[in-house]
Amino acid sequence: MSRQADIAAQSGATIIDGRALARDMREVLRQRAAGLQERFGIKPGLAVILVGKDPASGVYVANKIRACDQVGIHSRTIRLETTVSTHELLELIRALNVDTSIHGILVQLPLPGHIDMPAVLDAIDVNKDVDGFHLYNIGGLVTGGTVFSPCTPFGVLKLLEYAKIPIEGQNVVVVGASNIVGKPTALMLMARDATVSICHAKTRDLAQFTILADILVVAAGVPHLIVPQMVKRGAVVIDVGINRMPDGSIMGDVEFDGVAQKASFITPVPGGVGPMTVTMLLSNTVDGAEAFCNAADSTSISL
Ligand code: GUN
Repeated sequence: MSRQADIAAQSGATIIDGRALARDMREVLRQRAAGLQERFGIKPGLAVILVGKDPASGVYVANKIRACDQVGIHSRTIRLETTVSTHELLELIRALNVDTSIHGILVQLPLPGHIDMPAVLDAIDVNKDVDGFHLYNIGGLVTGGTVFSPCTPFGVLKLLEYAKIPIEGQNVVVVGASNIVGKPTALMLMARDATVSICHAKTRDLAQFTILADILVVAAGVPHLIVPQMVKRGAVVIDVGINRMPDGSIMGDVEFDGVAQKASFITPVPGGVGPMTVTMLLSNTVDGAEAFCNAADSTSISL
């Protein structure tokens, strides 16, 4: 048993094991990808655009590529110099939009400051927007019409489902209001009839909100921001934080050892939300490839 599992077991909190769920889901995705190959001779394809040499982005992209290999998705990584222009990026995305071997396009963020990021993200065909960052997909989180959901919030929902945590009517507090995680997570939980509060860097007296949470989702990027006094006994705690410390270790936004004494369910870092983010990217890509094959099949277009 890991040290984290040990602590949680002693205190009664159940660890929500993101690695186990990711493993099970990836096996199903591998079978679905193999099915597409069998029925249509098509391998799902993901294009990843990486601009510049940000080390963290390099690691994230390498993880995504490795995960694609595991489940039978073919990936194409396009590495570009930091000096690339918005125009060049838009041209590349237009080419990938019409490339029938590519069913998902991902632009790794952050982009250099001179790039018009919204223009780049909105140039991606919504049917290939497997990150869920296109305005159409973001708007769909409000109105209920997404083609793809953003991967980390989608992974959080899957973890809650896996642990059989009821969402309807629950008080959810999301700490962190980023466009990538906090805001879409709040919208997706609202769509499941939770009562959602969003806290952020300028929230006064954070604890007065977090203490009310039946489900606390923390995506602030601040190591050990959440300490036991801020958590209601029996709360479900989902830690989205991945903070690399000076000694190279990875730390979440939640002080795990103490909070596990009060929570009913808790996700570890690493091994909680992280593996699910990549898994949902794979899931979106396989969904995209299936939609492509089914559309082509129903219109009798030869693949
Ligand atoms: N940078 C940090 N997280 C993400 C993510 O989920 N997708 C992309 N494209 N870039 C990121």
